[in-house]
Amino acid sequence: MTIDIKTIDKLIAVAKAASEKAYCPYSRFPVGAAAMTTTGLIFAGCNIENAAYGSTICAERTSVFSMVAAGHLDLAAIVIYTPTDVPAAPCGACRQVVNEFGPSSRIISVCDGQKRIDTTLAELLPVAFGPKNLIAE
Ligand code: THU
Repeated sequence: MTIDIKTIDKLIAVAKAASEKAYCPYSRFPVGAAAMTTTGLIFAGCNIENAAYGSTICAERTSVFSMVAAGHLDLAAIVIYTPTDVPAAPCGACRQVVNEFGPSSRIISVCDGQKRIDTTLAELLPVAFGPKNLIAE
């Protein structure tokens, strides 16, 4: 699905605001995300770290899990914001989670610099393992 510029700007604003909520005392690397459903609902997420480092969760997954917890299973897009000079693409675990709910998702990473990553999950995670492998369609 195509997403208009106004909607992308809104997603960027939500992701930026979410980064302010990041709990990242260990990395000091705040990340904000905005997940949008195919129906246009937007869910914010931030990274939430833990003293047991492996229990940390990324901003992208926080936003997608928030969407699912609200009863929505169809992800259309996710925007990621980092207060850095270059944009950050989602990590492998987040790509796998995005694949579960939005294999056709648009993925946009923005930062404080001019560079932007504007791509798709299919490009970031080709030949993915997913629900189709386990659930007969
Ligand atoms: N992080 C994210 O929230 N999203 C990413 O795509 C990459 C990494 C977080 C996890 C951790 O809190 C911090 O950034 C440093 O890795």
